[in-house]
Amino acid sequence: MKPLNTISLNYTILLIFCAPNLFCLKAPANGTGEAALVAQSSDRGGTCKSMVESNGYDCEEHWVITKDGYVLNVLRIPLGRFVGCRKARNRPPVLLQHGMLLDARSWMLLPPKRSLPFNLADNGYDVWLVNSRGTEYSEGHTSLNNYDPAYWNWSWDELVAYDLPATFQYVYNQTGQKLHFVGHSQGTLMVMAAMSRDQLLNMLRSAALLCPIAYLRHTTSLLSRFITDNFIAEALHSLGLYKFDLNDLITMRTLKIICRIPSVDCSNMFTPYTGQNCCIKRSKTEIFLDHQPQPTAMKNVIHMCQMVRRGTLTMYDYNDCDENIKHYGQPTPPAYNMTCIPNDLPIFLSYGGADALSDVNDVKLLLDCLRHHDPGKIVVQCIESYAHADYLMAEKAKEDVYDPLIAFLNKLP
Ligand SMILES: *[C@@H]1O[C@H](CO)[C@@H](O)[C@H](O)[C@H]1NC(C)=O
Ligand SMILES: *[C@@H]1O[C@H](CO)[C@@H](O)[C@H](O)[C@H]1NC(C)=O
Ligand SMILES: *[C@@H]1O[C@H](CO)[C@@H](O)[C@H](O)[C@H]1NC(C)=O
Ligand SMILES: *[C@@H]1O[C@H](CO)[C@@H](O)[C@H](O)[C@H]1NC(C)=O
Repeated sequence: MKPLNTISLNYTILLIFCAPNLFCLKAPANGTGEAALVAQSSDRGGTCKSMVESNGYDCEEHWVITKDGYVLNVLRIPLGRFVGCRKARNRPPVLLQHGMLLDARSWMLLPPKRSLPFNLADNGYDVWLVNSRGTEYSEGHTSLNNYDPAYWNWSWDELVAYDLPATFQYVYNQTGQKLHFVGHSQGTLMVMAAMSRDQLLNMLRSAALLCPIAYLRHTTSLLSRFITDNFIAEALHSLGLYKFDLNDLITMRTLKIICRIPSVDCSNMFTPYTGQNCCIKRSKTEIFLDHQPQPTAMKNVIHMCQMVRRGTLTMYDYNDCDENIKHYGQPTPPAYNMTCIPNDLPIFLSYGGADALSDVNDVKLLLDCLRHHDPGKIVVQCIESYAHADYLMAEKAKEDVYDPLIAFLNKLP
């Protein structure tokens, strides 16, 4: 762990200094709903245009509605760029699920030749990128506004129960094929939780888990620890703040301006949150700040903090027997049992030795649950120097992670 005073731009410090801002969060401007929707619809297709088509790939935009009414934006890169890869038939679908505080664009921070979705497309896969509820392009709901408290009334339990099945079913219907899944961070937690409860398996061909999150007890992330130990999320929630948005804490625009000053190096900006990433170029930080971090529900942050504090993997705890009984029919929240992940499901799991969020000791606990997995069906990779953000932004992520991942997929029947 780096001492605080060596990091010039430290989220934790910024958080402390900026905390007062939290208490003067602006109420939604008049007519935000309408205005935002209009602004957004003119920006719709933004990611397709700016990040996919501009790189010479076809792109489709899809809308998936969850059972609880959230309208999710899903991008599809149906074909590769080269003539040889433009064969439209029988391209196996791959669903990419981003992590917490990120969205689908987090998969495309590297240049196209080096980023995962484009490499998958060029290797003959039909690529689908989900934007989870609450992120910039998935702010819609069939009956709620995204500034209603009820809109933010969810944790990753709901991502498991609603977002994931809806997107799986949609892609399965569209392609008529079972899908490969690739998750980063919270995305891995979502699919493992679903698999442990015997869900989605009829539509799932394989699961790739980058920076797997199941247990969080050993996390050394300073920001996570700070929020957890000080019950920040619980406090904010009880004050009536239901949306967790780092953009409200730190003005990213300011950060971006500061990062442009030649003498300031923001490439270790993520360290207090993710651990010391080894291989991120400073220009990537700016691209990141163009559209990340994304908001999530305060309840989701509280759920993660419960995992950090207790070291367990259960559903959200209402900390109230009656409330738990109301939701779960039992006084304590039900566990997700990782030993129940089917032993014959093909799994590619990659974790970083320097990752503060997906700590090596927690990954070991997960691997222990998977110890009876069919040895022919699981590939485990550890990259000593990698931390959480290297998986999306490292200069050589293609060689280190994506190429082995695609080789794993290519070998599957
Ligand atoms: C805000 O909205 C209300 C109700 O729609 C309207 O009466 C009021 O004039 C608006 N205020 C401004 C400043 O636009
Ligand atoms: C969230 O949902 C629960 C029921 O699941 C309800 O008791 C609670 O009042 C809701 N909170 C908000 C802010 O909508
Ligand atoms: C998928 O297809 C089934 C059967 O045709 C249909 O019942 C279901 O609504 C479809 N679901 C989605 C998400 O498209
Ligand atoms: C998980 O399931 C296994 C096998 O069914 C069982 O032995 C174990 O006690 C369960 N663990 C938890 C935490 O429920």
